[in-house]
Formats: sequence, structure tokens, C-alpha cells
Amino acid sequence: MAAERTLAIIKPDAVAANNIGNILTIVENKKFTIKKAQMLRLSKRRAEGFYATHYGKSFFSDLTDFMSSGPILVMVLEGENAITRWRESMGVTNPAEAAPGTIRKLYGTSVERNATHGSDGVQTAAFEISYFFPGYEMAE
Ligand code: RTP
Ligand code: MG
Repeated sequence: MAAERTLAIIKPDAVAANNIGNILTIVENKKFTIKKAQMLRLSKRRAEGFYATHYGKSFFSDLTDFMSSGPILVMVLEGENAITRWRESMGVTNPAEAAPGTIRKLYGTSVERNATHGSDGVQTAAFEISYFFPGYEMAE
């Protein structure tokens, strides 16, 4: 199977809690290749654009407030079946329900403050990668 790419984000809660290193250790142990990485802080508007598919949902305002509340680490991860494997590595959305050993179980503290993001499909990954790294998906 060809290598696949996904967009991963270490969210503001995990950055603030000094968990970047712990999460990158999991990234490396699970044999993802970090193709791109950038620390940045989202504006509210840019967070709204990123999560546009959730526009109108009850949690949209809180979600985009939170995602713009502090620095994040945005990454393109590459590997076999990367989209599914990264979501399995993160665990389910609610850390309380996430499986033992998953990132959200280890480092998430609530449904909102759940440590990491991962693309949920091939088309989402293409959109999300181009949102932060324009031109990269097609160029390399
Ligand atoms: P993500 O997009 O961040 O990787 O998370 P996900 O696929 O597991 O969950 P999704 O349904 O895409 O929701 C995006 C983020 O919105 C927040 N959320 N809050 N209060 C709530 O009921 C609620 N539901 C979702 C979470 O931070 C979730 O990661
Ligand atoms: Mg999602």
C-alpha cells in the first residue's frame, strides 16, 4: 500500500501542559514520518475556517475559541494507512471513553481539551494539509 498523509495537530491544551515531547514520542514509536511541522497560533477566524464542517453545531463557538487560545503544533504525518492509524493512536473524541494507551486517554482532559486532532478521511486530509501547507500535497 502506498504511503498516506494526514494532518495532525497538537492542540493548545497539550502544548500548554508540556506534552509535545510525549506525543512526538508516540508519533515516532508508531513509525509515522513527520513531513512538515509548524508551531503557530490560530486566529479565531482561521480556526473557524479549519473546522468549517462543524459550522452551526452547538460546540462550534467553544471549539474555535479553544483552538485559537494558544499555540499549536501542526504536522503532516506520513505512513502506511496514516489517516486511520493516527486516529487509532489518538483514541476516540472523548478522553474518558478512549482506550488505554491512546493519546487522548493519556493527555486529554475533556471532550474539548482532547490533546490532538487528526484528519478523518482522504479528502479531509487533502483539504487540511493544503489549509496549512498550501501546494504541498500536490507538489511532493
Ligand atoms: P478532531 O476533528 O479534533 O480530530 O476530533 P474528532 O474528529 O474526534 O471529533 P469531531 O467530531 O471532528 O469534533 C471536533 C472537535 O470538536 C470538539 N467537540 N466538542 N462538546 C462537544 O460535544 C464536542 N463535540 C466535539 C472536540 O474537541 C473535537 O475534537
Ligand atoms: Mg474531526
